Amino acid sequence: MYRSKIAGIGHYVPERRVPNKELENLMDTSDEWIVERTGISERRFGKRYEENTTMLGAKAARKAIADAGIEASEIDFIIFATLSPDYFFPGCGVLLQRELGITSTEIGALDVRNQCSGFVYGLSVADQFIKTGHYKNILLVGSEMHSMGLDFSTRGRNVSVIFGDGAGAVVLQPAGDSEPSEILGTYLHADGTYAEELAFISPGAHGGVFGQDQDFGFDKEDNWKSIFVTEKMLEDGLLYPHMNGQLVFKTAVQKFPAVIMEALQKAGKSPEDLKILIPHQANLRISQFVQRRLGLKDEQVYSNIQKYGNTTAASIPIALSEAYSEGRIQRGDLVCLAAFGSGFTWGSALFNW
Ligand code: ACO
Repeated sequence: MYRSKIAGIGHYVPERRVPNKELENLMDTSDEWIVERTGISERRFGKRYEENTTMLGAKAARKAIADAGIEASEIDFIIFATLSPDYFFPGCGVLLQRELGITSTEIGALDVRNQCSGFVYGLSVADQFIKTGHYKNILLVGSEMHSMGLDFSTRGRNVSVIFGDGAGAVVLQPAGDSEPSEILGTYLHADGTYAEELAFISPGAHGGVFGQDQDFGFDKEDNWKSIFVTEKMLEDGLLYPHMNGQLVFKTAVQKFPAVIMEALQKAGKSPEDLKILIPHQANLRISQFVQRRLGLKDEQVYSNIQKYGNTTAASIPIALSEAYSEGRIQRGDLVCLAAFGSGFTWGSALFNW
């Protein structure tokens, strides 16, 4: 059995800054409301017709590959986590392979659809493949181009003010015998009871049949059309994410501390041993609650949601990459990643950087 490590990291955020004030022109919201409820001051939006999720991911991936000191052609497995894929199918994994000019077919490409926990789920998959010796250079990318699919009218304000675009990537490799870097454990959880509480339902092949007794305003007489975009979907605003914000918030503040403690306890560690916690950047208030609950110092919790918003699958690798480039983590430091989101799914990863 090998030990696995993060050998390279990089991130990319689009140039265009979108401050809260700009959203005030599109919907009934205010800078004060957004800052007070979420901590977000601005986010980045990619360029329409010029950038997409795969392209943002490729920019982050090239940096991670260079940081690992390898060539793209040496990547033997791609894991791509996103909720805003370029296409319904195929997934972004193969599109990234093409974008990076990897022509070898001796490579696997996997898409992870676990939204905010996508990066932690992807890291867990990569860790297993490295440990068994199946792959040697795994590229794991979290990338989102949310701005293409948000309702920027007042109807969608509880969701659209939160999200931003960006990408982060890591390369995972086997750790050498004398290296301090090592993934200590990954812990994954899911509870499908709440699948529709944070979801993008239509279009989809659900045929108007939902897992819960919920009314999404879908016309069941037209159910065969669920896979297509209908006038009714447009009118009812169904072509956008739907979120029960309060339920998500209440559940998140329970699951984050629990899954972080699970990772620490399994490794025989406690919160004071952590150099840094990189929580999924969902809401600054959630991260502050988690910090208080675990008794962590300010310097032990990384937050950049203020400038990027919630970038879903990209938020953890962007934050980890920034923390690294700012010198907040050194080789051997104990780092914990934790995520919670749609599904509900949640998870954590503990490693020595
Ligand atoms: N601007 C102004 N007012 C707003 C906005 C807005 N952008 N959005 C909602 N409001 C209004 C509501 O209409 C409501 O008005 P009312 O009292 O007149 O009915 C009021 O503000 C309060 O609305 P709530 O939804 O109760 O506000 P809350 O304090 O819960 O904050 C928020 C909303 C920020 C979305 C919060 O619930 C939250 O952060 N939830 C968790 C989000 C999250 O973590 N998501 C997980 C990751 S996403 C993923 O996995 C894809």
